[in-house]
Amino acid sequence: MPAIFRPRSTLIGRAVLLAMAMTVTVAVGWWWLAPRSDWARRVGFTIDQPVPFSHQHHVAGLGIDCRFCHTSVEVSAKAGLPPTWTCMTCHSQIWTNAGLLAPVRQSLAEDKPIVWGRVNNLPDYVYFNHSIHVAKGVGCSSCHGQVDNMPLSHKAATLTMQFCLNCHRDPGPQLRPENAIYNTEWVRPADMPSPDAMLAHYGIPNRTLTDCSICHR
Ligand code: HEC
Ligand code: HEC
Ligand code: HEC
Ligand code: HEC
Ligand code: HEC
Repeated sequence: MPAIFRPRSTLIGRAVLLAMAMTVTVAVGWWWLAPRSDWARRVGFTIDQPVPFSHQHHVAGLGIDCRFCHTSVEVSAKAGLPPTWTCMTCHSQIWTNAGLLAPVRQSLAEDKPIVWGRVNNLPDYVYFNHSIHVAKGVGCSSCHGQVDNMPLSHKAATLTMQFCLNCHRDPGPQLRPENAIYNTEWVRPADMPSPDAMLAHYGIPNRTLTDCSICHR
């Protein structure tokens, strides 16, 4: 009896099956990973701003404290962006004619706030609060990275739910002393008190910080 399939057909059949399996794997991988990637979450990208404000110059260079400009970070949900007159405390004296600062002078003259583009932005269905994190020993750089090195601001972390939960599951190891909250170059020294001691120090109760209602209220 003549064979219906020649041996070569078996080989081709196997190759086709393998190619299909690989396509499906790559597609599922892409579907799952792409939305979580740094690229999709815009991590590391700068955006156009009305004035090219540099944290590198103002924070690392001039040593201005975060709270001088982000005045409400210790007391409210929002850190806040500085009003024009905060810039003018210095720029009415220095760099008064710089072209780069024309939008700042215009804003003051017309009494219209500068509209800064947003780098970090959570969807409206997520509740976030700066003041509790600052009060409980979480430093700015845990979420915003080394802002003092940024000539233009960029997002430093994906800010996905996974990112928040990674710390909320076990915040102890990420807590720092009060005097290091605004130090964006801080690294954990070897002789730090234990994570449990830090949790006790900040009075963080042993509750579930991963409950949905903490962030979705
Ligand atoms: C002299 C004023 C000034 C100081 C000091 C300052 N900032 Fe800013 N910051 C700004 C301005 C203006 C913007 C808006 C423009 C931009 O995004 O760069 C901003 C934006 C930011 C953003 C991005 C906001 C967004 O759109 O999501 C972060 C994060 C930030 N600052 C953190 C810090 C931290 C941390 C410090 C201290 C280490 C600090 N800033 C010190 C003026 C300041
Ligand atoms: C405490 C004083 C002070 C404050 C407040 C301040 N600046 Fe400056 N700024 C300076 C000095 C000093 C320089 C010159 C830095 C240099 O050339 O090294 C400068 C430079 C600049 C420049 C030129 C580019 C650069 O980074 O060198 C821009 C643009 C600028 N500032 C924008 C702003 C804006 C916008 C604000 C308000 C959010 C602001 N500054 C608040 C002191 C200040
Ligand atoms: C636990 C993470 C976390 C920490 C710690 C943190 N931030 Fe933020 N920050 C965020 C998130 C998330 C947003 C976006 C909030 C939104 O879209 O509602 C944000 C937004 C901002 C903004 C934009 C304006 C605003 O209030 O929305 C500034 C400025 C800022 N942060 C500065 C700071 C400074 C300064 C510190 C340190 C004192 C700090 N942040 C600590 C997560 C953090
Ligand atoms: C590096 C650690 C860390 C990261 C990252 C972090 N958190 Fe937190 N969060 C804490 C700590 C610590 C507390 C204080 C817990 C306490 O006092 O019991 C807290 C408290 C909170 C609270 C207040 C809870 C309450 O009911 O009082 C909210 C809301 C919150 N976080 C939301 C977020 C969101 C949203 C993100 C991600 C954008 C985030 N957190 C990222 C450490 C973190
Ligand atoms: C520590 C804060 C935090 C907690 C706790 C939390 N979430 Fe979220 N959740 C977020 C953030 C931040 C986002 C927004 C992510 C983004 O920007 O895409 C989010 C997004 C979501 C979304 C939108 C789809 C997605 O994945 O982007 C759903 C659904 C959701 N959360 C459900 C839950 C449920 C169910 C729980 C409890 C098991 C929970 N969340 C607990 C912070 C939190």
